Amino acid sequence: MHEVVALLRAATQHPGGLAVLTGAGMSAESGIATFRDALTGLWARFDPAQLASEEGYREDPQRGWDWYAERRENVRRAAPNAGHLALGAFHRRHPGVLTLVTQNVDDLHQRGGVADTIRLHGDIFVDRWLERCRERPACDTAAATPGRPPSCARCGNLVRPGVVWFGENLPAASLEAAGDAARRCRLMLVVGTSGAVWPAAGLAGQARRHGATVVIVNPHPSEIDAEAHHVLRGTAAEVLPVLLDAPGVSS
Ligand code: OAD
Repeated sequence: MHEVVALLRAATQHPGGLAVLTGAGMSAESGIATFRDALTGLWARFDPAQLASEEGYREDPQRGWDWYAERRENVRRAAPNAGHLALGAFHRRHPGVLTLVTQNVDDLHQRGGVADTIRLHGDIFVDRWLERCRERPACDTAAATPGRPPSCARCGNLVRPGVVWFGENLPAASLEAAGDAARRCRLMLVVGTSGAVWPAAGLAGQARRHGATVVIVNPHPSEIDAEAHHVLRGTAAEVLPVLLDAPGVSS
């Protein structure tokens, strides 16, 4: 821990010195289930990879819409935890040092104080059309007829959430900005991700190859532990405040 605090102190002296990559474990202590936690209740018999795919949505749009509606509601009820807040406070204290990249589709980093978080997997609160709209002017999802899912009165198109599903490309600008941050940083913290989903999982290796020190924060082993110089076995809400509020980092 002491060694990582020293690295953090050094990183605060450089623009872009710190990159943080987060995954679902970041929001676990805010009460949002991680992606690979077994689904519960109504959803227990489904595989999340099936629900979070275009194929799964098309197979049963009502089921897909209801799953995301429940997740939206969970996120609305959740609050940023001590880890999100520690990142927000660090960002205010050290302008220009932190680039925060998340795989999460919730808005807890933004509510925790990092408005410019790079979102690799989209935003659960955004609505999009399932098919590319060919009408001119384009139909507006805000005017969709309510339903599960809502649909377009003009062309029948269905609304879907603005998240990246399995098999879909990540938003190019976000991926590029995340790669730039990985190549530029002195220190990368990788918090609460299983490292199972690419290309996000590759950012740790990119940072390492470009000379950064990589530190993983996770209570359990991840698939990218071998990329790390240090592994801190603890939770996001426990470990991040200890690191980011340490003497010399907090001032
Ligand atoms: P996962 O659900 O795969 O992994 C969650 C990780 O968080 C695991 O490694 C846990 O050990 C760890 N964890 C659990 N509780 C924690 C805590 N309190 N503090 C820190 N770590 C904790 O989630 P991701 O790695 O984010 O993509 O999954 C990556 C992507 O897979 C998701 O963004 C999602 C999914 O497909 C899309 O929806 C496109």
